[in-house]
Amino acid sequence: MAGGGLDAGGCWTVCFASSGVGRWLSMSSRTAAPEPGWFPAAFDVFMAPLERFRLRRIRSEILGQLHGRVLDVGVGTGANLGLYAPDARVTAIDVDPGMLARAAMRPEAAGVELLRMDAERLDLDDKSFDVVLSTLVFCGVSKPERALAEVYRVLVPGGKLVMIEHTLGPSKVLNAILRGLSAWLGPRYGEYFDRPIARLVDGAGFASVSNRMLALGTFQLIEGIRPLESSAR
Ligand SMILES: C[S@@+](CC[C@H](N)C(=O)[O-])C[C@H]1O[C@@H](n2cnc3c(N)ncnc32)[C@H](O)[C@@H]1O
Repeated sequence: MAGGGLDAGGCWTVCFASSGVGRWLSMSSRTAAPEPGWFPAAFDVFMAPLERFRLRRIRSEILGQLHGRVLDVGVGTGANLGLYAPDARVTAIDVDPGMLARAAMRPEAAGVELLRMDAERLDLDDKSFDVVLSTLVFCGVSKPERALAEVYRVLVPGGKLVMIEHTLGPSKVLNAILRGLSAWLGPRYGEYFDRPIARLVDGAGFASVSNRMLALGTFQLIEGIRPLESSAR
């Protein structure tokens, strides 16, 4: 496992920054709000040093390898936009209309289908994507198992789930802090920094599940494949 990178405080606040705000929406909709409001801009200001420090490079390296029909789940303000491979045909969803509206303001959003939608209830066809991507999303999804079942459903057999998420890592001290924070923030704001995401991916029926440390024992690359029909669950 590779180490080093983003600071732990950054990791906690990444998730915290996305908590609560915008979660009033529970129904899927294909309409993005015209006005982003203050929170998405504040989110981008908060993320800027982290992006410069390491995160943007990590995104770039990983997203540049994704090809075909790509679904970006929880696109937020669009930090991933412009980093996909040239042949990627990208659909990006988010439950928060303000975050989506901010994403839509980016020039890189041209050519990307932006949809307001809940990952737990994707209004998308079965087996319609070659790749599903999530970056810094599953710490805050209310029912990760349900969202993973939806991701599985919309992936073609043989399709790939690629996640840059933060979870517990090798540091006992950091893990204890992350668990403590999750115990406090989880019930209040729905943010959990200690989710065993790779295990959840495995439990959702994905094959060849792997996780690799990207930064400071908490940011991880988690990948899984929807099995081909003959070997599916
Ligand atoms: C920390 S932000 C990360 C945004 C972006 N992926 C990035 O890497 O910068 C998490 C995003 O996930 C979205 N989100 C959380 N739960 C969701 C759900 N159930 N369905 C769709 N989006 C969700 C939030 O609205 C927020 O925009």
